[in-house]
Amino acid sequence: MRWTGVNHLALVTPDMEATVRFYHDVLGMELVATVGHGDPNEPYPHRHYFFRMADGNTLAFFEWPGVDTGPSKETGAPAAGIKFDHVSFNVPSSRDLVELRERLKSAGVEVTPIVDHTVLWSIYYSDPVTGTSLETSCWVQDVTRMPYFGDPDPTPTARRIQEERQVETVKPTIDPAQFEVPGQPHVPVAI
Ligand SMILES: [Fe+2]
Repeated sequence: MRWTGVNHLALVTPDMEATVRFYHDVLGMELVATVGHGDPNEPYPHRHYFFRMADGNTLAFFEWPGVDTGPSKETGAPAAGIKFDHVSFNVPSSRDLVELRERLKSAGVEVTPIVDHTVLWSIYYSDPVTGTSLETSCWVQDVTRMPYFGDPDPTPTARRIQEERQVETVKPTIDPAQFEVPGQPHVPVAI
């Protein structure tokens, strides 16, 4: 089976204008499609907008004006009563994380320090329109190219897969040229 990414992740917003301002203007995800309001017989007239994450990969929003988007959760807290926890958007380097962090702070959006998850670094923040938990990450070791099996007590099937692939569980070393961020605090987190 060949997968080529996420065609679109569909979320809901009560206010598309505010959503465009955050995702396009603050996060810098290009608005690439505006769909909706085209059919007068549409039983639920709505906007449906798409933001580009990467070639062929988009984030989409349905606008249901005034809709209650439900409870929000704190970063890292267990998600009870909802299936969705958070989504992480990829950037190519730690420098992009730093740039995004500054953009968020300039827009008045609360954002965590960079968190070191061994194979990836992340920052966490929330969509100010809907409260959706968001993350942005860059791979330290791109596990889609070089898998990382770090669980000391994996499930039986995961252990079988690891053994079949003969993957060594070696923690990646951080390349200072790629990941040194002067003056930028980050918090190592064991995974
Ligand atoms: Fe995450």
